[in-house]
Amino acid sequence: MREISDHWTQRAKKEGYPARSVYKLKEIEEKFHVLPRQGRVLDVGASPGSWTQFILRLSGGRCEVVAVDLSPLNAGTPQDNLTFFQGDITQAATIAFLESRRPYDALLSDAAPATTGNRAVDTARSEALVEQVLDIARKTLKPGGACVVKIFQGGGQKRIMDDMKRIFASVKAFKPRATRSESFETYFIGQNKNV
Ligand SMILES: C[S@@+](CC[C@H](N)C(=O)[O-])C[C@H]1O[C@@H](n2cnc3c(N)ncnc32)[C@H](O)[C@@H]1O
Repeated sequence: MREISDHWTQRAKKEGYPARSVYKLKEIEEKFHVLPRQGRVLDVGASPGSWTQFILRLSGGRCEVVAVDLSPLNAGTPQDNLTFFQGDITQAATIAFLESRRPYDALLSDAAPATTGNRAVDTARSEALVEQVLDIARKTLKPGGACVVKIFQGGGQKRIMDDMKRIFASVKAFKPRATRSESFETYFIGQNKNV
């Protein structure tokens, strides 16, 4: 019921996005300007595809998106300038594919593990996923590139922030207004990747 009546969900539907999460990226972009005007963007945990679609629309055809997820993208997602790989980012075949398409100007990850309701378990799984995303960022992002990662708050958040500070000149935590009030997720934004 909440999904149906939610303001952001209604707005996403009206504007042709498959998920309300698009407004989180919109806020992040408005505040931090993480997306390149042109170039290649890696969208990790991309399904159903609203972030991918936002990037493609915003760049007006000047950005190419490489999207990856365990699940397929929504069928309505435009195909121009889009490469989709269905796979698990912890698996060697997926990593090899993503590396084959480097370098990226930006890497965005809205990836999240399926939640169990056990906060400690969910947080630990989110952390492991973020570590994996940062490993991919180290290997595939251009110097000067930007990275956005979603993380469940608690646990090793500080360690991840410290890790990111070793990779990026600037790292900020940001919780978009479009995040559900009961959610314990937040985003870390790394900018200006070191050489
Ligand atoms: C919140 S959704 C992303 C929503 C997307 N940003 C959008 O706007 O449409 C999180 C996604 O992370 C994906 N995911 C979780 N673990 C993953 C993994 N190990 N490899 C690839 N994708 C993963 C899930 O399948 C899920 O589709």
